[in-house]
Amino acid sequence: MTEPIGPERLRIAVIPGDGIGPEVVGATLPVLRHALALSGQQLEIDMYDWGASHHRRTGRPAPADAVETARGYDAILLGAIGAETTDAAAAADDQPRITDHELLRGTVLALRQGLDLGVNVRPLRAFPTVPAPVPAAAGADFVVARENTEGEYAGIGARFDRDGPDASAIEVAVHTRRRIERCARYAFELADRRGGELVQVSKSNVMRHGYGLWDDVVREVSMDYPDVALEVVLVDAMAARMVTDPGRLDVVLASNLFGDVLSDLGAAVVGGLGLAPSANVNPGGGRPGLYEPVHGTAPDIAGRGVANPVACLLSGAMLLEDTGFPAAAEAVRDAVSAALRDRNTHPPDLGGTATTVAVADEVMRQMEKQWRAV
Ligand code: NAD
Ligand code: IPM
Ligand code: MN
Repeated sequence: MTEPIGPERLRIAVIPGDGIGPEVVGATLPVLRHALALSGQQLEIDMYDWGASHHRRTGRPAPADAVETARGYDAILLGAIGAETTDAAAAADDQPRITDHELLRGTVLALRQGLDLGVNVRPLRAFPTVPAPVPAAAGADFVVARENTEGEYAGIGARFDRDGPDASAIEVAVHTRRRIERCARYAFELADRRGGELVQVSKSNVMRHGYGLWDDVVREVSMDYPDVALEVVLVDAMAARMVTDPGRLDVVLASNLFGDVLSDLGAAVVGGLGLAPSANVNPGGGRPGLYEPVHGTAPDIAGRGVANPVACLLSGAMLLEDTGFPAAAEAVRDAVSAALRDRNTHPPDLGGTATTVAVADEVMRQMEKQWRAV
């Protein structure tokens, strides 16, 4: 049973994961703790080494009861799980490589599906002080609402004649009215609050069964939201629009796979994967939610202390907001924005030289400064 959240205490499970996961989570936890402490609230943390190190230790990426364990918390913060080294480094190593598939099915995907976290909310916002790689993205501020439990991620399929000349495979996408509808309702509610425009991403011109159902369900749900303008855009055209005109986007409603691809694209367009947070939420309001950066383990930079912690910090802010600590969430967001105003605090992915720790230290300093000003 999840304990009710008291006003004084937040209990979270933390899964730092692999690659840069522990680096960005390590930078984030003191900031969250401090943001809560400013208003006399406490953060209680239990750490779980799920991912590659748990696999090395036990032969599986997480214990069999991982979902049940996670269920006991107010929220979960996750860094990233997956490859720890680049393919080239792995090829030079004698150790058998754990497959990404095994790691992810047993952790991130098990939590999303097991906790029934039906929507993956991915706000993508350009910072005025971070040059957007795509000029049209200056001022962009939109949210990808991604179905999070099924579609092409259903995990149903098979391979035949694995290494033979007739090798073939099937991967079945599952789309269900109930799950499309709950994600769509979440997205329409969000669009209603944000000013009323929603783009549904489709591909029903080719995949007429699955995306035909998406189109039908979304059209039905739209009847309940007369103030939200609905536009249906095919995914290929959407990819182009995200680059040419991201400033006009507001809420983007997408299936699991399309939302995955478009959120990395959107992140790149507004400034980079180092800036993009996410919240995996149960649209019915059930806890715990799972909060994690959009990015992965970044094996190409892991272990060097240069990962951008902003995506993880902002995921932490979403966690605070959703668990009933909006003032602490705002303190984190404001401090991140203030820290990014100074080019000296930009890490390498933003064109600067600041380390992960230097960014986090500056965020902490900004939070102190704002607190003193109040
Ligand atoms: P990735 O997001 O890890 O990296 C893509 C590129 O973005 C790399 O060049 C990386 O250096 C850069 N990057 C990402 N985050 C950054 C940050 N915070 N600061 C600076 N640069 C950053 O994607 P990938 O290389 O395709 O995946 C690596 C591994 O992560 C794979 O095993 C994948 O399955 C896994 N993955 C896990 C999650 C998760 O746990 N939620 C999410 C995505 C990918
Ligand atoms: C993401 C990641 C995940 C996904 C992987 C790690 C399972 O890419 O969160 O975007 O594909 O959903
Ligand atoms: Mn992804």
